[in-house]
Amino acid sequence: MPATLTTPLCELLGIRHPLLLAPMAGVAGGALAAAVSRAGGLGIIGGGYGDPEWLGAELARAAGARIGVGFITWRLDARAALLDMSLDHGVAAVLLSFGEVAPYVDRVHGAGALLIAQVQSVAQARAALRAGADVIIAQGCEAGGHAGRRATLPLVPAVVDIAGNCPVVAAGGIGDGRGVAAALVLGAQGAMLGSRFYASAESLAGEAARARVVEAGGDETVRSPVFDVLRGWEWPAGYALRTLANETTARHAAAPDSFAAALASERERFARAQAAGHVARAPVIVGEVADLLRDTPPAATLVRRIVDEAAAALSAPHVQRS
Ligand SMILES: Cc1cc2nc3c(=O)[nH]c(=O)nc-3n(C[C@H](O)[C@H](O)[C@H](O)COP(=O)(O)O)c2cc1C
Repeated sequence: MPATLTTPLCELLGIRHPLLLAPMAGVAGGALAAAVSRAGGLGIIGGGYGDPEWLGAELARAAGARIGVGFITWRLDARAALLDMSLDHGVAAVLLSFGEVAPYVDRVHGAGALLIAQVQSVAQARAALRAGADVIIAQGCEAGGHAGRRATLPLVPAVVDIAGNCPVVAAGGIGDGRGVAAALVLGAQGAMLGSRFYASAESLAGEAARARVVEAGGDETVRSPVFDVLRGWEWPAGYALRTLANETTARHAAAPDSFAAALASERERFARAQAAGHVARAPVIVGEVADLLRDTPPAATLVRRIVDEAAAALSAPHVQRS
């Protein structure tokens, strides 16, 4: 009998397993989101910085699967049409991260969807709860991509303690079933995984980036402002991007001033690297769980494997109880 793990979150989200695919910008497209949802989790398309053409194509690619969509909130503020496009498509949930959710709650609920707020601190969790979020994701800075300053292990129970009846999901540093089991033990009702699905068959990350991830380790990740500077994204204070360290992060760390002085030529060099999928210069966005990512199987295989591992880990066979 395959293992099952059920929490009240499963009923709220209409899923079989308490696993969510993180809305990774440009990486979690319609095929990956649909695969996770069809395997029993909730797949969430990464609407990211908000390209309407890309989002329209990826929503279509999800081919009717029950999915969610996620946005970077401070970018969505000037692009409300993207939210309308997603709600008109009939997404089950909208995930907002990195900004105030209050302005969006009524619109999302009015369309019959759930609002999931990804937060990086206890203060942000309080604000999202006050605004009426249906699910809180407590995201630690072990995560791949942007995150705040808090770590997952202490942040999750602190958010659980103030969340009342609102389910809390853990994110950041969860790469296999052991991490999911740990999240559940901390009081979370589920886990949201990004980096693990970056290294999957349906991920939109390039071949070279995925190959690099399966040989990399968490010691090699770094939080650096350099890729946001090169891409021209003006992130609000308090967030930083975790990627694998490479030639670009090292050059910037060694001489930030000369980097800034030559910004125009640095941007050209970066754009060429990005277009060519040159992983020594372009970002490979993965978190501290890199050590645990050694293959790139289909997402459905990962969901099944992670649920089985979590069920086994919850019985903690190496712990003697009396
Ligand atoms: C490649 C990549 C892109 C991401 N892009 C976004 C994004 O656009 N919006 C967002 O809310 N979170 C984004 N995240 C963060 C995830 O939502 C999630 O918090 C994180 O992946 C969880 O940590 P993990 O990578 O250790 O699983 C991204 C993460 C990765 C790895």
